[in-house]
Amino acid sequence: VAPLKVGIAGLGTVGADVVRLIEAQGRVLSERSGRGVRIVAVTARSKAKKRGIDLRGIEWVKSPQALAEDPKIDCFVELMGGAGDPAFSAIETALNAGKSVVTANKALIAKHGLRLAAAAEKHGGALNFEAAVGAAIPVIKTLREGLAGTGVNRVYGILNGTCNYILTRMEQEGLSFAECLKDAQRLGYAEADPSFDVDGHDTAQKLAILASLAFGTKVAQSAVYVEGISSITPEDLRAAEELGYRVKLLGVAVRTAKGIEQRVHPTMVPKSSSIAQVMGVTNAVTIDGEGIPPITLVGPGAGGAATASAVVADIADVARGIRAKPFGRPVERLRDTTKAPMERH
Ligand code: NDP
Ligand code: HSE
Repeated sequence: VAPLKVGIAGLGTVGADVVRLIEAQGRVLSERSGRGVRIVAVTARSKAKKRGIDLRGIEWVKSPQALAEDPKIDCFVELMGGAGDPAFSAIETALNAGKSVVTANKALIAKHGLRLAAAAEKHGGALNFEAAVGAAIPVIKTLREGLAGTGVNRVYGILNGTCNYILTRMEQEGLSFAECLKDAQRLGYAEADPSFDVDGHDTAQKLAILASLAFGTKVAQSAVYVEGISSITPEDLRAAEELGYRVKLLGVAVRTAKGIEQRVHPTMVPKSSSIAQVMGVTNAVTIDGEGIPPITLVGPGAGGAATASAVVADIADVARGIRAKPFGRPVERLRDTTKAPMERH
């Protein structure tokens, strides 16, 4: 079988690690997926930038759009970020041409995921976004495939590595919010605009994606109540600790009689609880399924290597020929039962 020909748009924290991982794991990947995987073309903003990756033998294409249109590409991998263009148009172009797409872009999937999933379903390509939620944690697959026969009543957890890293270091080392955020940026955890992390929007995007998969509803970021962590001080964390609590930024989506309630806000959790033990860049997601005890997945929630792990697994699924419905059901079957966000108080 001819190898899967991959084009990558975006060679930053995640993209560079995807190149490294495919280079390092090429043979294992082809054994496990039954088909070789070859990066044939890439693009980013600057061709001249030093990236510490070997791009010899790989074509540099002038733009993401040109890469998406390139007839030699089977699988377009989008690792630029941003809910608009060039990511959106390039992905739609690739899907409309029948190519498969892999992306880590939760902002884009939360905003345009349904339209893009419809294009994937219509033209026969895959649209895989495992890395968009929980980085290396296979939570999308767990909800979409692993729990395909199980009703879900609630999905919740720590979904932003940057915020958990900041809260951990503020609590353990008494550092200021600004110092911790700077380190999270240096380590490649934060979004290009870190207000998405600290104001809770990144968690809301991820929660909206998980809720859609869990409940068979349309992705609705606008229905998520959002509060972030930017006003929390080390003193707040100390006060919580004295009362026996830790503060965590949680995303919670729960089935209620009136619809699906979705919220993101800092939450005091008892220090003895398992969620309070989740420290640093680690994420944790708990799924309450009908008739079974809760399932909790814990793992690295941000960073180049952790995210590349999920991106490469998604590429391997494309190589295997797996074409899952992106949201687990045909897009036209997703219901519109999400509650409007709670009132702020
Ligand atoms: P970076 O900012 O490190 O990298 C972005 C890359 O995209 C850069 O190579 C940049 O080019 C390129 N790029 C940006 N805009 C354009 C454009 N207009 N045209 C061409 N190329 C462009 O981001 P990350 O790698 O951190 O994140 C990438 C995606 O992965 C985002 O969607 C993010 O939300 C998601 N993600 C990130 C995680 C993380 O821990 N970092 C975890 C999970 C998901 P250049 O290098 O030349 O500037
Ligand atoms: N900025 C995100 C985070 C990256 O810190 O969780 C992973 O999605």
